[in-house]
Amino acid sequence: MWGCIMRRKKDSEHISIKDGEDPKNFFILYKLAELGACHKTIMISTTSLAREIGLSQQSVSRRLIDLARKGLIEREATRDGSHIRISRNGKEYLRRIYLGLRMIFEERALSITVEGKVFSGLGEGAYYVSKEQYRRQFIEALGFDPYPGTLNLRITDSREIAKLRAELDAYPGIRINGFKNKDRTYGPVKCFHALIEGRERGAVVFAFRSHYGRDVLEVIAPECLREKLGLKDGDTVHVEIFLY
Ligand code: CDP
Repeated sequence: MWGCIMRRKKDSEHISIKDGEDPKNFFILYKLAELGACHKTIMISTTSLAREIGLSQQSVSRRLIDLARKGLIEREATRDGSHIRISRNGKEYLRRIYLGLRMIFEERALSITVEGKVFSGLGEGAYYVSKEQYRRQFIEALGFDPYPGTLNLRITDSREIAKLRAELDAYPGIRINGFKNKDRTYGPVKCFHALIEGRERGAVVFAFRSHYGRDVLEVIAPECLREKLGLKDGDTVHVEIFLY
């Protein structure tokens, strides 16, 4: 039942190459990664790299300069060749492509399960979720009318936060558009279908202008989860987040 509401998006929507990232740089970065430059500094001459890739030595030289200028590699040129290591931004770039490809080739809906502890906020969730312009879009995009509010969860394992957020940032999710009324603007929201405690259907929602830190998940669901699951502040909850 849950599986049938997972939608597969068009492949072209998956790979997000950010502005300023020249797609022509991809292959050379990929080759450098194959040679081990994600995990250590490698020493290679532009001539042998050019031979590996099948480009002229001049083109490879130009591309390496460009990759270093864009902060995708760290490079020190010496007389015998270059010492090259793929930078954090370079790894993120490759990772986005990897996640895009994984999504294209993986048949099953991919999910990650996280554990968080329930906490109370200031009651703002109910205000936002019940705004008619959001509510209508939630019904249309998620297939349920959300209970007015968000269940706040603070992720238990702090080491997991960066990895989780990188995954969620890399996937487009389901977008709920922002809107304006005469008083103010309401920002867009990114959602992912979710299963709470293995049985309650819902979604995690990320307001682009959230006042919470990156260690917090906000969950919406057709039911009041506190009632349905007998939850109180401090209880641990498992959420399976479906990436697409
Ligand atoms: O700011 P806070 O998260 O405490 O409140 P809220 O978002 O306005 O939500 C109202 C109450 O409903 C809170 O106690 C939430 O934890 C709870 N809630 C729930 O149990 N299940 C949902 N699907 C949504 C909210």
